[in-house]
Amino acid sequence: MAGKNAKLGKVLYTQEDITRRAKEICKQIDKDYEGEEVLLLGTLKGSIMWMVDIMKYLTVDTSIDFITASSYGSSSFSSGVVKITYEPNVNMYNKNVIIIEDIVDTGNTLKYLIEKLEGRGPKSIKVCSMLNKEARRKTDFKADYVGFEIDDLFVVGYGLDFDQKYRDLPYISYLDAEDVEKL
Ligand code: PRP
Repeated sequence: MAGKNAKLGKVLYTQEDITRRAKEICKQIDKDYEGEEVLLLGTLKGSIMWMVDIMKYLTVDTSIDFITASSYGSSSFSSGVVKITYEPNVNMYNKNVIIIEDIVDTGNTLKYLIEKLEGRGPKSIKVCSMLNKEARRKTDFKADYVGFEIDDLFVVGYGLDFDQKYRDLPYISYLDAEDVEKL
């Protein structure tokens, strides 16, 4: 299996870079939602580390929950078909929802998720993504808060996986394109 022996590229963003950016974004979210309550909805599994950062540095009142949407299966490229495999049983009516995402790639996942969640009557829905890969966008989706803009690399670490591995890296790196193509 290619993933096991895939070579990691250089570190794109260290823990310090990510913490600094999370704090900046949280300042902005605090300002945008002053006096309001926010439901942070993390997308499993990729967003876990970024979710922790965001919830740690926000000062507005928050509650948290998680949702699982899947578009990739176990291959490295998006199938374009999005499925919700876990939905929280939480009341979103008249709530400010911020979806916490690890990466926006084609935009299919977020576009689908937002359409679905709008049916629950929230007051507002915004998206806070750690990474944005504009080069692969196939929809008109745009995240409201973005940690870092990245090139068209197969990024791993800090929650992001390749075949379920590398999620535990405390930094963001990428895999050699050759290794990914071997799949
Ligand atoms: C990844 C990522 C986003 C989505 C982005 O999830 O976490 O949710 O793909 O891709 P898109 O913009 O092309 O739709 P994945 O299905 O790999 O699940 P994971 O979070 O468990 O890794």
